[in-house]
Amino acid sequence: MKIGAKLLSTYFLLIISIFLITSLTFHFIAQRYLIHETKQQLHKEASVVSQLLGKTVLSSLTVKEQLVNRKALALSERLLSSEMIIWSKNEEIIYTDLKDATLAEFRLDPKEKFVSETVAITSKNGKTKGYVTLVERLDEIKEINLLMRRSQLISLIISALIAVGLGVFFEKSLTRPIRRLTEHMKQFSLKGENKELELKSKDEVGELANSFHALSHRLKKYDEDQKVFFQNASHELKTPLMAIQGNAEGILDGVVKGEEVNASLNVIIAESQRLKRIVEGITYLAKLESVEESFVFRGESLDKIIGEAVESVRALAEQRGIELEVDSCVMEPVLLDREKMKRAFINLLGNAIRYSKFKVIVRSEMLKDDTGISVEVSDDGKGFANGEVTKVFQRFYSGDAGGSGIGLAITKAIIEGHGGTISAYNREQGGAVFRVYLRGVPS
Ligand SMILES: Nc1ncnc2c1ncn2[C@@H]1O[C@H](COP(=O)(O)OP(=O)(O)O)[C@@H](O)[C@H]1O
Ligand SMILES: [Mg+2]
Repeated sequence: MKIGAKLLSTYFLLIISIFLITSLTFHFIAQRYLIHETKQQLHKEASVVSQLLGKTVLSSLTVKEQLVNRKALALSERLLSSEMIIWSKNEEIIYTDLKDATLAEFRLDPKEKFVSETVAITSKNGKTKGYVTLVERLDEIKEINLLMRRSQLISLIISALIAVGLGVFFEKSLTRPIRRLTEHMKQFSLKGENKELELKSKDEVGELANSFHALSHRLKKYDEDQKVFFQNASHELKTPLMAIQGNAEGILDGVVKGEEVNASLNVIIAESQRLKRIVEGITYLAKLESVEESFVFRGESLDKIIGEAVESVRALAEQRGIELEVDSCVMEPVLLDREKMKRAFINLLGNAIRYSKFKVIVRSEMLKDDTGISVEVSDDGKGFANGEVTKVFQRFYSGDAGGSGIGLAITKAIIEGHGGTISAYNREQGGAVFRVYLRGVPS
């Protein structure tokens, strides 16, 4: 069942049940109320007549005379035309305007089909002279009740029509944008232009459309990134492969001879190793970014991990004559993936040693308000060229003396996998600084 149909049928059921409940209660209440009102009115009227007749002798002649003035008593305002019986003291009928048949019926059973009120007629000395009874047929009351119910029904039908009209209008204004959004979503494609859907509604449907736009932008961005990644990856893999192929062919064709053969073989080995590193780096990065490679967090102290990373690059630093200064305080254990975090710092230290002239400094500290840890890896090298700081973390970005350009992408993925951030900037006195900020305990 479509939303619109659901909405309308709910509406309809609501209207019908409201109608049934009100008309039922109305029926009973109105009937009772009308009978009660009639009785009061009859009593009032009968009292007036009794007062009128109290002054005269009770005989059919005098009664008739007196009752000519009945209209003058303003009884004509009554909606119902009541009829009258005047009784003598010993309950003989002196006067009545009831028809014979009706009278007989009334005398037989005054409760079944009639509403009546009887008031005694008393003379000045307080003696009862007779009685006056005013009679009203129940049918007439019911007729009035019916009349009221009919007008109630008409007003209900009119309001139901208005309500249904409004319902249809709301249904349209709700489902039309949903339908448009659905159409729009079906037509979405990763390739080619997608028009923005202009929805006027500022309600949940509008929100849904906005979310969809945001989602489609993210999807396109992801698709774009993926393409760039494949282009770059194949380029990076081709370069060493071409070198390997060229050298191997040179040897095979006899172009490369004698002493040169060894040099060529060394190139082949070096390029093969580079190739291996790139492939390993790409797969590692892909794993980091996929869901399967979950981080294994344990309580570890970061200064120990930094110490280990420094030890693994010490040989490289000595080889290049670079001094390594570690300024790390003992820190509380935080939740870390030991292997990954070590790899992140080895990457930073490796770059720093490669670019520095004399000295690389690693400095870590707990933040003053205890909200996390900051680690800085700085060198005294050439630093970053203009605009480079925004690019260095991109996959396959490498500068002049760079390698495959995947190291910092891996480092960033690891730090962010720990809920932390990494940023790069130039030192005032020259050289590069990488600043890692860790929140301590990632969720
Ligand atoms: N300490 C540094 N000083 C200056 N430039 C750096 C430093 N570290 C990284 N870079 C720049 O960032 C680029 C990317 O680094 P990275 O992702 O580690 O790849 P790679 O080391 O393979 O070139 C480097 O090629 C270099 O241009
Ligand atoms: Mg590197």
